[in-house]
Amino acid sequence: MSDTDARVHAQYEAYPYPARDPRDEAKRLITGSPSHLDEIRHYVFAGRLDLSKPFRALVAGGGTGDAAIMLAQQLADAGAADAEVVHLDISSASRGIAIKRAEARGLTNLRFADGPIERVAEIAPGPYDYIDCCGVLHHLDSPEAGLQALADVLKPEGGMGLMVYGTLGRTGVYPVQEALAQLSSDLREKDRVAVAKKLVAGLPKTHWLKRNPFVGDHLTGGDAGLYDLLLHPRDRAYRVEEFAGFVASGGLAIRSWIEPARYDPNTYLSDPALRKAASGLDPLARAALAERLSGAMAKHIVYALPTARADLPAPDPGADGAVLVLRDLDPVAVAKGLSGGVLKADLGGAPWQAPLPAIAPAIVARLDGRRMVADIRDQLKPGDPTRFADHVRSTFEAFHAINRMLVRAVH
Ligand SMILES: C[S@@+](CC[C@H](N)C(=O)[O-])C[C@H]1O[C@@H](n2cnc3c(N)ncnc32)[C@H](O)[C@@H]1O
Repeated sequence: MSDTDARVHAQYEAYPYPARDPRDEAKRLITGSPSHLDEIRHYVFAGRLDLSKPFRALVAGGGTGDAAIMLAQQLADAGAADAEVVHLDISSASRGIAIKRAEARGLTNLRFADGPIERVAEIAPGPYDYIDCCGVLHHLDSPEAGLQALADVLKPEGGMGLMVYGTLGRTGVYPVQEALAQLSSDLREKDRVAVAKKLVAGLPKTHWLKRNPFVGDHLTGGDAGLYDLLLHPRDRAYRVEEFAGFVASGGLAIRSWIEPARYDPNTYLSDPALRKAASGLDPLARAALAERLSGAMAKHIVYALPTARADLPAPDPGADGAVLVLRDLDPVAVAKGLSGGVLKADLGGAPWQAPLPAIAPAIVARLDGRRMVADIRDQLKPGDPTRFADHVRSTFEAFHAINRMLVRAVH
């Protein structure tokens, strides 16, 4: 273990991240991306994940448990009797919190493993149907070696959900990290936190860290958040093209950026001539352009599939047998709030909207995650079934662009 590896380990023993209190499990389930079960079903399995069969997921660098707990709970709720989530981490303090959270929920489908990602094949052998690695690979000595170790335990028909830091959205972070390294690298963890607090408090209001609204862990994440953002012994960030190259180094192809509309240049371009110029770019160049225009991408989240699966057809949301779901939203409440024939969102400060057909509220209100498109059509009795399918598709496209609607199943 290198000296830096030892310091990374010491950080996460002293400051398990993110800070979580197991008692809060009684009040709420934290959900997010990647690794929400509905996202896994859509992006990794194109709506065809059969949970009556065995399903194994690995949460690599699982920390205090957010993704592992979310996925284990959602699998339990879905009645997946033969599903297992393996949480792997080097930090026993973080694992201890994740274990207490699982106990608080009475989850029995989780297993906990101790050790580094680089040795996953011996510590928590695969093969896995799905692997989560969120906010971890950018802390490794060799992110490529870490990703390869994970790719080696992934089933050929599986996929991954990955998150790494985004360079442009973290503007201001690295100069402060460097300043703190100059001023505090020989101090103990606790004393470094005190130095960081003093230093941040004294920064001029014009400093990019203070002007950047897209990084806030040092303000809202407690000492663990502050340490992770400003005192980490080793972190790096990626631009879109670098990240895509990194993912490719593991024999994987990006299936989707989350949320898709953030990576669409049209979100940031209103001038028709500029939109036309952007339309000629290939998908990766378009995502890279979106990053340049956004300024808000402090992290990049993707779903990735082994390159041999890269041509997996996307599920058709208008198909009779498709079951659509609103991700973590109440369909009736959402339908009631739809007005004016458009769906609106704020994407890191960029106002975004997409057109909706007049029938969208009636469709959305019926998306209970069980009904098929054919069931909804039978209820609504539209005149023209082909036009109805197209309306379902355009409703889906609007919500899907902001990762709010997914294909849960295809029957
Ligand atoms: C920033 S936290 C992210 C935790 C969690 N994935 C999340 O998103 O909430 C990074 C985690 O990776 C773990 N970690 C760092 N290096 C690791 C390695 N080589 N192998 C396994 N875990 C590692 C740390 O102990 C820490 O819990």
